[in-house]
Amino acid sequence: MAGTTTDLERQLSELLEQERFEPPEEFRANALIKDLSVHEEAAKDPVAWWRRQADALHWFTEPQQTLNDENPPFFKWFEDGTINASYNCLDRHVEAGLGDRVAFHWRGEEGEERDITYAWLLEQTQRAANALKDHGVGTGDVVGIFLPMIPEVVVAMLACARIGAPHNVVFGGFSAESVKERMEFSDAKALITVDGARRKGKVAGVKAAVDAVGMPVQTTFVVRHTGLDDTPMGEGDVWWDEALAAADAECPAEPLPAEHPLYILYSSGSTAKPKGIQHATGGYLTQVAWTHKYVFDLKPESDVYWCSADVGWVTGHSYIVYGPLLNGATSVMYEGAPDYPHKGIWWELCERYGATIFYTAPTAIRACMKWGVEHVEKFDRSKLRLLGTVGEPINPKAWLWYWKVVGGGNCPVVDTWWQTETGAIMITTLPGAQAMKPGKAGTPLPGIDAAVLDEQTGEELPRDTQGLLALRRPWPGMLRTLAGDDDRYVQTYWSKWDERTYLVGDAAKQDEDGYISVIGRVDDVLNVSGHRMSTAEIESAIVSHPKVAEAAVIGAIDEDTGHSVAAFVTLEGSLEGTDDLVLEIREHVAMRIGKLARPKRIIWADDLPKTRSGKIMRRLLKDIAEGRELGDVTTLRDPDVMAQLQGKVKERAEDEA
Ligand code: WTA
Repeated sequence: MAGTTTDLERQLSELLEQERFEPPEEFRANALIKDLSVHEEAAKDPVAWWRRQADALHWFTEPQQTLNDENPPFFKWFEDGTINASYNCLDRHVEAGLGDRVAFHWRGEEGEERDITYAWLLEQTQRAANALKDHGVGTGDVVGIFLPMIPEVVVAMLACARIGAPHNVVFGGFSAESVKERMEFSDAKALITVDGARRKGKVAGVKAAVDAVGMPVQTTFVVRHTGLDDTPMGEGDVWWDEALAAADAECPAEPLPAEHPLYILYSSGSTAKPKGIQHATGGYLTQVAWTHKYVFDLKPESDVYWCSADVGWVTGHSYIVYGPLLNGATSVMYEGAPDYPHKGIWWELCERYGATIFYTAPTAIRACMKWGVEHVEKFDRSKLRLLGTVGEPINPKAWLWYWKVVGGGNCPVVDTWWQTETGAIMITTLPGAQAMKPGKAGTPLPGIDAAVLDEQTGEELPRDTQGLLALRRPWPGMLRTLAGDDDRYVQTYWSKWDERTYLVGDAAKQDEDGYISVIGRVDDVLNVSGHRMSTAEIESAIVSHPKVAEAAVIGAIDEDTGHSVAAFVTLEGSLEGTDDLVLEIREHVAMRIGKLARPKRIIWADDLPKTRSGKIMRRLLKDIAEGRELGDVTTLRDPDVMAQLQGKVKERAEDEA
């Protein structure tokens, strides 16, 4: 055990000196992959190697073709094969006699428990698929899903996949207006939502909120969860349980072309309009299954796996739903917040369900560090054997704390780099085969070509030089396009250098061993507690407030959350910025986008620093918000603006002090 806080502090600062951590002996001895031969094998012929990994899935028609790269950047994988995601996640295991295996130990916020078996999921999914069909949803129709962390969200996703209706899941933290926008953009036919959602002991009506903005869909299915008895049900509204009860119990999985879209997931880009990232089926499942098995060293018979993300993000899609179910894993699914009902709840649940693998975000680890070791050490985590992180760079101190305090120094920590667009993990260390380096994600996985390139020339940079992260070879789990916007797809990702080199949008560097450290975004995308948001989207929400004239949003570096949202706001006419108005604007953003996008700080500005062509100089605003010396201001239309703003921020800082 780590002992007292001061002991721990001392141990951690000593460990900060250590660059490499070898996999623990016992772990390596039992690992699925113990050396680098798999990297070597894949490097010989990556495309052929991926074709072999596709054999881990059940295909109705075996693909004869692997990669079609004739029309870059519209790449296709396994295109003549037919497959079904729901069949691979469920039927296959039940037919193999594993129906009674627990897929999810579900835990409700108030301590309710449900063990969800593979057989139950299959039974419910078939009924749900028929219920969708009964209400006019067919292959190719988009279905929105706006649900909390309850087993029904898995059923809903797999029911869509079963009939080839791409799902469009919206994270529960988004506002009803955001849901509406995403339903409109994707032309959704139906929406699956819930009566109400619980958050830290409170219940909020979800169906009522959805109704208040109106949804552009034909049918709204409503899951009964919190049992609110004033849930409004109108024409076109159907209770989920009643629809399932009325539906036929049998619904064979539809054989679908491998390139059939499995889902759309909206994510933030550098403009106010979110991007509908569209994934296909066969390639995505291949890469998700492989990475889930080998990055987490999964032994489905004995492991209990827990990814603490929300299904509303890509991490939830790939590593709560598809990856674990494809591999027949037993997972933990928790409805509540990490500090509800108490700050040790995660570790209490690790003990209770015997979790062996735990996957979370650096921001959550930093929160746990703040809360203190006592909340962790109160519970038995001796079954844990592997830890993982995702979503943002992890600072070495948080990495070490995770490794030492949570893992007791016995568990490898995999720092996994990937994106909504990549669909699956791309860069990390294979835990039984590669040493870990805190703060560096690791090397490209087998079959993946990631490199750090010069922005101008596109040439690979020498080691230890910062540049742009790029992916130079198509990979099976890659996005296929942006829903309804092929041009934006090409422009955003494939136009920096050439149409075969994917621009990630992150700055990175690679060390002498080929380990990549990802430094952060180079575009106007913020990462707040691992949640991806766009400055333009938040600005547009703020500006839609009637009293606001103009706004510039930046992500200020924040010790706890990675970035925090800071907004420079100019008001209409001669209005004065007041504390009440701060609250009003924050509330307005919560309504337009969701609570997660609310600015932490609002700075009133008479004017914003702009170039002569009228472009807001965000770099300067960042300098101000983070209290740095100002960079070059000579390109500004009116350099005085900066001095004024700086004065304001200082005043505020003194006020706060
Ligand atoms: C960042 C989440 C450093 C990165 C799966 C990326 C990371 C963006 C890491 C994607 C990591 C994710 N180290 N940065 N291990 N993982 N990121 O689409 O900036 O929500 O481009 O996907 O998160 O965020 P997204």
